[in-house]
Amino acid sequence: MALRSALINVMIAAAQKAARNLVRDFGEVENLQVSRKGPADFVSTADKKAEQTLHAELHRARPDFGFIMEEAGVIEGPDNSNRWIIDPLDGTTNFLHGIPHFAISIALERDRDILAGVIYEPIGDQMFWAEKGQGAHLNGKRLRVSARSRLDDALFATGIPFKGTENHEPFGRQLAAVMGECAGVRRFGAAALDMAYVAAGRYEGYWETGINAWDIAAGVVLVREAGGFVTEIDGGRKFLTRNNILAATPDMHGPLGDILRKSTKARD
Ligand code: IPD
Repeated sequence: MALRSALINVMIAAAQKAARNLVRDFGEVENLQVSRKGPADFVSTADKKAEQTLHAELHRARPDFGFIMEEAGVIEGPDNSNRWIIDPLDGTTNFLHGIPHFAISIALERDRDILAGVIYEPIGDQMFWAEKGQGAHLNGKRLRVSARSRLDDALFATGIPFKGTENHEPFGRQLAAVMGECAGVRRFGAAALDMAYVAAGRYEGYWETGINAWDIAAGVVLVREAGGFVTEIDGGRKFLTRNNILAATPDMHGPLGDILRKSTKARD
């Protein structure tokens, strides 16, 4: 069993506490599916409640750290080199539709670098965590990215843009290019888990455009500590602010990036 630092213990305890209510609320969602209005308001309340729990727990443990959270936005702290980046419910649409694939994602950013990350998938009780220099882990097990080295065998994940988002047409070209070269492309609907699955060797890579920092921040340290590479699709390093990401094994990062970039150029 890997030895967890005090920092990781704080993050895991906060995630577990917020998850208890989320799981209870997920049970309620199933009852609300049949109503005409659906469970949308209920889910948005569940999301906010989870965020408040995470904020309260992490603030109690590290009172000086700042926050960036999906619902409440930025909260500055006196210590401006440390901030939590939080998605209280990644996979909101899945949750809303009663699909048990969602997670809580907590990252600690220190001096603009992601130092630690926890991604908790409460229905399957999968606790993914990583800390810089300490490896990536799933519950008690050390994680390594996949060793599959042929594109033909590679399974990739992505996010499909939806109503109200941009990049629909370029995404269509990316998908057409990638699906013709690999064993499959999955869209499971929770970016944090897509990243955690790359770290766990389940996918060889994941890409998405139009993605927010809170969806991917914890996954960055997980993938890196499991031996993978994380960049923007064009190879840049500003994935937390430029809303696009490519996370993959060392063998697949280059080939997948090439396919994605060529598909973008195809239009020009
Ligand atoms: C969404 C999920 C989804 C991704 C979207 C995100 P949310 O996050 O991660 O997989 O494709 O871009 O917005 O809204 O459920 O926290």
